[in-house]
Amino acid sequence: MTDTKKSIHGQWSSRFAFILAATGSAVGLGNIWKFPYITGENGGGAFVIVYLACIALIGIPIMMAETMLGRRGRQSPINTMEDLAQEAGADPNWHYLGWLGVVAGFLILSYYSVIAGWGLSYVVKALTGSFSGASSAEIKTLFEGFIASPVQVIFWHTVFMATTMFVVARGVSGGLEKAVRFLMPTLFFLLLLLVAYAMNTDTYQRGIHFLFDPDFSKITADSVLTAMGHAFFTLSLGMGAIMVYGSYLPDHVSIAKTTVMVACADTAVALLAGIAIFPIVFANNLEAAAGPGLIFQTLPIAFGNMAGGWLFGILFFVLLVFAALSSSISLIEPAVAWLVENKNLSRFNASVFCGLATWFLGLATVFSFNIWSDFKIFDRTLFDLLDYLTANLMLPIGGFCVAVFAGWIMKQEHSRQELEMAKPEHYQIWKFLVCYISPAAVFLVFLNVVGVL
Ligand code: PHE
Repeated sequence: MTDTKKSIHGQWSSRFAFILAATGSAVGLGNIWKFPYITGENGGGAFVIVYLACIALIGIPIMMAETMLGRRGRQSPINTMEDLAQEAGADPNWHYLGWLGVVAGFLILSYYSVIAGWGLSYVVKALTGSFSGASSAEIKTLFEGFIASPVQVIFWHTVFMATTMFVVARGVSGGLEKAVRFLMPTLFFLLLLLVAYAMNTDTYQRGIHFLFDPDFSKITADSVLTAMGHAFFTLSLGMGAIMVYGSYLPDHVSIAKTTVMVACADTAVALLAGIAIFPIVFANNLEAAAGPGLIFQTLPIAFGNMAGGWLFGILFFVLLVFAALSSSISLIEPAVAWLVENKNLSRFNASVFCGLATWFLGLATVFSFNIWSDFKIFDRTLFDLLDYLTANLMLPIGGFCVAVFAGWIMKQEHSRQELEMAKPEHYQIWKFLVCYISPAAVFLVFLNVVGVL
């Protein structure tokens, strides 16, 4: 065990608090906004199967590894990796893994905040009855008009970023722990309600068929990479978010059980979102491959036409924003924790500094949907590029290194001690996955994309 070592930033009040916080980090825009649209772009069922396989074989073992490294190090990921490398007698350069995560966190949050800002503005649209009785064409025009306006989008991006920084400045176990406690169950309930609505459309079967019947001819090397990258993204892996949350985890809490629960909850939310959205897409003759605007162009149609839709619409977008908020704070926490540890900054100053930097970077995403939409690098807009670079490259590389460190570098007695598995076979299974299966899978997917396989 980690003796009596504790993080200077505080500790979760219980195992349940960690589950909530980690679920809060995992469940976010990734599940409700991104999963449906990338599933739509990559042809449905086969993509979903690859994604689920990645969660089970790569995501869960690496999530355990990352939580374990965090709890043993009890500091920001950069300092944790430095200490753990020293403890294992390994190269001190391992701390660059922490840096990779900090940079990835900044880049992801920069666009995450913009999309969450879209969600915020949709709270207001829902409130003012903009969806009421609207046709799918009107909903589409509403969305396109909104993202075309840099001023509006920047305004909401600013509101979201400021809120994130406010929460981060207050520390991990303050308001956040309490908020997530009732937000997550309510979000779940609302998704069930949307699924019930979708079940009543004529196209429900078609939606289910699209989501779950695999047609592997639609899978390309790049879609496999996207599925794997999304497994990292949706579980908040490969950039230190789960590591830093693990560093606030009390001793003797079972890492295996908690991480499996978090991964299951996360997957359930994504699948429910998919089940709710695709029948609506088909019922309105919309494009499954509509891209990042997908949920904003489909769900309002449902809200605008169902009984009680006004209230449910407001609730849904409020919850979406909260789900995004509980993820965004974990994106920036590694950087803030490091600034507090190494630069002697107060949490408040560290948060403001990180917030301003990310806000500024976010402008690239804002403009890539309007004034810079024609500006492309490698045939991608700046938003697409940021997304590809982080989710498809940086997170898998970070996760690969976490697996290698936990499996090959760290002393076996330490990982065994820290994981405290109930049965020795369970430890052996984890060890096998993290030493061989997860790193090999990531490596093969990369080889496949560069065309070596
Ligand atoms: N997991 C979050 C989501 O699905 C995003 C995230 C990625 C959060 C990486 C933290 C770290 O929305």
